[in-house]
Amino acid sequence: MGNGIAHVFAQFGNQVTMIDLKQENLDKAIQTISKNLDRQVAKGSLSEDQKKNTLANIQCTTDLKSGVSTAQLVVEAATENIDLKLKIFTQLDECAPADCILATNTSSISITKIASATNRPDKVIGMHFMNPVPVMKLIEIIRGYSTSDVVTNEIVALSKSLEKVPVAVNDYPGFVANKILIPMINEAIWTLYQGTAGVEEIDTIMKLGMAHPMGPLRLADFIGLDTCLSILRVLHDGYGQPKYAPCPLLVNMVMAGKVGDKKGEGFYNYSDPKNPIVASSFMKK
Ligand code: CAA
Repeated sequence: MGNGIAHVFAQFGNQVTMIDLKQENLDKAIQTISKNLDRQVAKGSLSEDQKKNTLANIQCTTDLKSGVSTAQLVVEAATENIDLKLKIFTQLDECAPADCILATNTSSISITKIASATNRPDKVIGMHFMNPVPVMKLIEIIRGYSTSDVVTNEIVALSKSLEKVPVAVNDYPGFVANKILIPMINEAIWTLYQGTAGVEEIDTIMKLGMAHPMGPLRLADFIGLDTCLSILRVLHDGYGQPKYAPCPLLVNMVMAGKVGDKKGEGFYNYSDPKNPIVASSFMKK
């Protein structure tokens, strides 16, 4: 997600510094951005010059302190781990200018909790981008308990300048997008687990019957089954309702490391990424 976020900010003329612990991750991110810009050039939605300018707007560093020292906005997109995010926000609060807005791309961790690790909770906000970031129009903007209206309005205006559609919501578990999407995905996994239908049948029904661009099981692989599971746990803990209990098949697949596209296998096998096939015979009807 981080490379997609850097891509859109840079494309719309902002100076961006990408920060990661490892230089190799930064090199990989630049390659991905360059490849995705090439798609836009090939489609004619971007010129070669705009591609060059976008790349020129991006710098990289492995040093968080110098990377944020003059920032007006930081968008954190680290792994979905609450302890890690709290540690990063404590550091950001120390190193970023006092008036800098600290945003997080978290898909489900409480903005209010993250803000509590800083001395500027009024300037902490959720900017939840959707994957693939250069393509998807929505940014779900999440107001934490203490986020100020000034900061919310600033982030809404900034999101519009990226030609995105911001929608502001309040900070409760799963916000809106994942409170609705992830239980649907979990229900699709239960449907497979209970033997009602196979992977292809479930995905075809939702694609052709509901006009979803991807079936829920294909989408689960695309998001990452580990991410889906961690969001379900946040919903289950946060609302205490059995309807959010993760399907045991999802739990097993995550334990087995079959977490989707990023590991080459989930509900589908991506050995040939252009032609995914159902991963296991028990997932066929
Ligand atoms: N960067 C730039 N452009 C990209 C891209 C990328 N990473 N990936 C795809 N594209 C572009 C393509 O170039 C193509 O452009 P045109 O429309 O101009 O031709 C367009 O996107 C469609 O791509 P493809 O033709 O290759 O493939 P497709 O038609 O199958 O679409 C898809 C791919 C856009 C991913 C589509 O399947 C889709 O919309 N899927 C659903 C995605 C979704 O639901 N995302 C949200 C996930 S939830 C989340 O992110 C948040 C969370 O917290 C869990």
